[in-house]
Amino acid sequence: MTTGAKARAEMKGSHALRCIECGTEFERAGAEFRCPHCGDLLEVVYPGWAANEAHTAVWASQLKQTWWERNLSRSTEDASGVWRFRELLPHLPEPRRIITLREGNTPLFALPGCARAAGVDRLLAKHQGMNPTGSFKDTGMTVAISVARQEGFSWVACASTGNTSASMAAYAAQGGLRSLVLIPEGKIAWGKLSQALDYGALTCQLRTDFDGCLRILTELVRRHPIYLLNSINPYRLEGQKTAALELLEQLEWQVPDHIIVPGGNLGNCSALGKGLEELRRLGLIHSLPRLSVIQAEGANALVRTLREKGGRELVPVQAETAATAIRIGNPVSWKKAVRVLESTGGSCEQVSEAEIAIAKAEIGRDGVGCEPASAVTLAGLKKLVKQGFVQRHERVVLTLTGHLLKDPEYTLKFHRRELLPEASEAERKRLDPCRRAPLQVEPNLEAVLRVLETAEKTDASR
Ligand code: F0G
Repeated sequence: MTTGAKARAEMKGSHALRCIECGTEFERAGAEFRCPHCGDLLEVVYPGWAANEAHTAVWASQLKQTWWERNLSRSTEDASGVWRFRELLPHLPEPRRIITLREGNTPLFALPGCARAAGVDRLLAKHQGMNPTGSFKDTGMTVAISVARQEGFSWVACASTGNTSASMAAYAAQGGLRSLVLIPEGKIAWGKLSQALDYGALTCQLRTDFDGCLRILTELVRRHPIYLLNSINPYRLEGQKTAALELLEQLEWQVPDHIIVPGGNLGNCSALGKGLEELRRLGLIHSLPRLSVIQAEGANALVRTLREKGGRELVPVQAETAATAIRIGNPVSWKKAVRVLESTGGSCEQVSEAEIAIAKAEIGRDGVGCEPASAVTLAGLKKLVKQGFVQRHERVVLTLTGHLLKDPEYTLKFHRRELLPEASEAERKRLDPCRRAPLQVEPNLEAVLRVLETAEKTDASR
């Protein structure tokens, strides 16, 4: 038996892949991770859980206890904030050969200034940008790339707006695999591109957008033995769902009223929704938070899909936004996302470029910071509060998906007034107070003191 076949035989039984549309179950996916019968997406299911469902309460409290105790362990698996929850993950034939960078374990921060700006009493941020490569992608990558290695692949690949490629390149390097990155030329933040280069990925900039890169990659994996690591790969979502588990543990299993996430290719909201649903099914929580998705106005395929087609058919768009991470017009996981919105009762909103920029500066001002795509969550929350969908007293958690330093160019342009030159007069009035450009100051003490005094006077007059 080859290593790959042995690995697959051992994985059999612990989990299966199921088509979300026709329900056919498979032991193993094809290269494109689509159902060979109807072409729809696959999800990981765990037939073995049924046996435990008769005594859910006992199992639930045992799981909570086990996960908590692992915080004290130094083993590689337990040090990962993903593999710590391995009872809800695919069982890999060689658990000691997982590829991990101690992902997960991300902090929950208070955002007092943002809470005031949004009109809620209290606001929390689960900062997924505090993962090893600076984005939430690491939590899914550790699982999917470990599967790739155990299935015997030597090459992995992704199309990316930047963060997936940075993450994949790091994990591939750590695990001794080669990685191929397809990115849209000129449309990814420099921090992310530099990561892919440093981690040694074969990096191709294509003169197209993210959707174009993904189309080419899908054709490539049909022709060449290379493992696809985009979020169409359901193992990615299994890892990403652990952020919901970790969040609930941090909240001592008290379910918040709302969780808000940015929407791009719509893998993350699907993953978090799956994690929450599984927690409920297994009795670890007894209700679901509303999970809402926020998109940039210029990349609003899900918003339009819901408004124009009732969520039954995708409305693709030609995406354009300075929040390059979510510059996606043809989101792969739209159907999964629609189901999560329906099952949790969440909302889907869009926000303008100016609203994103202001929200990003406000998150920065709370000492937390994030990349532009993550800031849509706060901008969206403001809208949801105005609409009365979120009440002032309710407990809200924003999912911040990427680190502030991923896209320093955006931040600098914003503060130097180079971003949004086409902003309207009304928008400028709201943008300008958030901007803090560096000052040119003569190199002497008096000059610096004058600057300080002026700043103190301005603060006092606010
Ligand atoms: N936030 C950040 C920082 C991202 O990098 C992405 C997606 C999203 C939000 C949207 O998540 O696609 O699961 O809905 N970035 C991908 C990439 C597409 O290639 O790095 P999603």
